[in-house]
Amino acid sequence: MSCSLRPVGRAQRGPLERLTAATGLFRPDEVAIAVELLDEALAGDDDYRFLGAYAGDELVAYACWGPTPGTTGTFDLYWIVVDPARQGRGVGTQLLRAVEATLTTDDGRLIVVETSSRAEYAPTRAFYERRGYVQAARLPGYYAPGDDLVIYLKDLTHGVLAGATA
Ligand SMILES: CC(C)(COP(=O)(O)OP(=O)(O)OC[C@H]1O[C@@H](n2cnc3c(N)ncnc32)[C@H](O)[C@@H]1OP(=O)(O)O)[C@@H](O)C(=O)NCCC(=O)NCCS
Repeated sequence: MSCSLRPVGRAQRGPLERLTAATGLFRPDEVAIAVELLDEALAGDDDYRFLGAYAGDELVAYACWGPTPGTTGTFDLYWIVVDPARQGRGVGTQLLRAVEATLTTDDGRLIVVETSSRAEYAPTRAFYERRGYVQAARLPGYYAPGDDLVIYLKDLTHGVLAGATA
């Protein structure tokens, strides 16, 4: 399924909240953070950038990313969420590729993704791993006892810039 990719506007605030909650993966306070980041982006904060995937006028997925403070060319992918009814049909891949293409033109070098070691996130981890993201670190018990932080990296330059000296 191919969606059209467009910015996420104020009208999508409610749909974004609903679709984030509908995944069943995120606590209410985490869902609230996604909405807060959208509000910041709509207020002009360039640290948070959003791209939506639409089926007609309906927001069915989104990604949120931004430059990692204190780095050169490193970006965090904060959120990527696909409506549960439409998962597994290529929408997440389409969005991820579009974000990567944007970062490549923004002199992006590294993408960092943080996720959880919990079993519910196994499909999410597989999604990143199959798309070239490498597990770079794991912080045991970071989120909660038995719930580790797993950090993935993707080198957008294929190592060309990563090893270069300024
Ligand atoms: C992870 C996620 C963004 C992937 O998007 P998607 O549109 O379902 O993925 P695609 O159809 O492009 O790709 C399918 C791949 O993702 C994996 N996958 C992850 N979650 C899946 C799901 N619920 N259903 C089907 N496949 C899923 C599959 O292993 C599949 O891998 P393969 O193609 O390498 O065999 C999406 O499933 C999602 O929103 N999950 C819940 C929220 C989440 O975990 N977000 C990331 C942390 S912020």
